[in-house]
Amino acid sequence: MKILRSPQEMTAWSKEQVVAGRAIGFVPTMGFFHEGHLALMRRAGELADQVVVSLFVNPIQFGPKEDLTAYPRDFEQDQALAESVGVDVIFAPEPEDMYPAGFSSTVTVGEELTRQLCGASRPGHFVGVATVVTKLFNIVRPDLAVFGEKDFQQLAVIRRMTEDLNLGVEIIGHPIIREQDGLAMSSRNTYLRAEEREAALSLSRALARARKMVAEGELHTERLRAVLEEFILSFAGTVVDYISFVDQFTLQPVAEVDKDTVLALAVKINGKVRLIDNGFVMPLHER
Ligand code: PAF
Repeated sequence: MKILRSPQEMTAWSKEQVVAGRAIGFVPTMGFFHEGHLALMRRAGELADQVVVSLFVNPIQFGPKEDLTAYPRDFEQDQALAESVGVDVIFAPEPEDMYPAGFSSTVTVGEELTRQLCGASRPGHFVGVATVVTKLFNIVRPDLAVFGEKDFQQLAVIRRMTEDLNLGVEIIGHPIIREQDGLAMSSRNTYLRAEEREAALSLSRALARARKMVAEGELHTERLRAVLEEFILSFAGTVVDYISFVDQFTLQPVAEVDKDTVLALAVKINGKVRLIDNGFVMPLHER
């Protein structure tokens, strides 16, 4: 497995793959790998000849109140884990390689997709994501890229941007990987103290509860939302950021659940760890 640091080296390697007729599968990450990341890497390996993983904690997607320096990092462990699933290249640039002095261009995806859900409490976040992903696509030049469905709004934003700007990369979504107790895997779970884990389960349990109510015939999203809010708040230390029933394509809120409705949740635990989760709410056989 190669470790490449500079964008120039990365692009030169990718050009060699193109000449050799090898397809490149790409997994952009901010590191601190868990099973969720490894599943994305394995999927990229199934779909392409070569797998590139970028490892870059992107400063411009963090807000002024979000602690970039506290973001968990462990390069040696990430390297070993990536190698164990057959990654060919880790691209790990420094912030000054990605944003040199004088850098002043950004990519903005329309407000219909970025204003609500996580965009409401994290202004500027999706500009940061869209900008870095565009840069990474231009540097790595992949044929396809795999993103987790846990960041459901991010995936919709990246799909829109890739299509709108003709970036020529196939975007693959990968289902959420969960811990045995249902908690969606996330690098942020490492911030949870033992007693906060129970509260963190409020998200996956709320999702299960919504599915049960929908299966029993409750389709009215405002009534569902009210029940879920009470349910989530019954876990100690939880503050609801959003509970939204949205269309999977437009991300606009819906009044009645149908086969395209996704329940998107964001909950803050003890005022410090903000967790997200999402999923379809209609039973599979009715979708
Ligand atoms: O999902 C992430 O880890 C990041 O938002 C991404 C896509 C790597 C961009 O920095």
